[in-house]
Amino acid sequence: MYANSRIPESAQQGVHENLLERVEKHLRNEFRKPCTDYNKAAFAASLAGWNGQAPLILDAGCGVGHSTIQLARTFPDHWVIGVDQSEDRLSRKKPYPDALLPKNMIFIRADLVDYWRLMSEAGVRLARHYILYPNPWPKIGHLARRWHAHPVFPFILRLGGRLECRSNWNIYVEEFALAVGVMTGTVPAWEPLEAPSPLTPFERKYRDSGQTLYRCVVELDRPTTLEKNQP
Ligand SMILES: C[S@@+](CC[C@H](N)C(=O)[O-])C[C@H]1O[C@@H](n2cnc3c(N)ncnc32)[C@H](O)[C@@H]1O
Repeated sequence: MYANSRIPESAQQGVHENLLERVEKHLRNEFRKPCTDYNKAAFAASLAGWNGQAPLILDAGCGVGHSTIQLARTFPDHWVIGVDQSEDRLSRKKPYPDALLPKNMIFIRADLVDYWRLMSEAGVRLARHYILYPNPWPKIGHLARRWHAHPVFPFILRLGGRLECRSNWNIYVEEFALAVGVMTGTVPAWEPLEAPSPLTPFERKYRDSGQTLYRCVVELDRPTTLEKNQP
């Protein structure tokens, strides 16, 4: 039945007690796992249609890609990349026929763990970056699978721009904000989100189930308090 989805259930009732220790560890130790050839080719393909000038938007974990399409329509002068690891989700029917899909976007199948690092290492910088309703991994033992506690997190922040994470699990967003804070020396806010026109199918489903949605938005290109204090 539609609109009966549940808020993630977890024995974890607040910020994970190991979060800060883990984030600080990732800040000190560079993640060096080699990237696969498959993801290297996917990264190259994602920029093949880019003119090298248009500001970039990444919809990370775009699922069926409705948000990617909506972002491409909202920002017609940007190049919008929707990345997901699931071919099944990417290939699902879109709300418009192919001929009506915006031309300033592309869907790419890739593992974000490699994709984010390849983008960062290529020196690419984003104007906007969306992580919309990531898998919450609510079990206490799954902390390291949440993006903000994953070794790839420093690379996500290096891509710059306006980074937005949304979730229906308040603890995920609070942890995300805290992790950004540890890495950048700022104190990002997080807040409930009204979604009168849902950006993604998950957002619609959670909203229609009467759940509160949350988001954290950070402007990564603004000088952080740490940088400001440096001579
Ligand atoms: C809960 S769904 C949300 C999808 C979409 N953003 C939405 O709100 O409707 C999370 C998505 O992240 C994708 N995902 C999870 N881990 C990933 C990874 N390592 N690389 C690429 N995509 C990933 C999944 O395939 C899934 O489509």
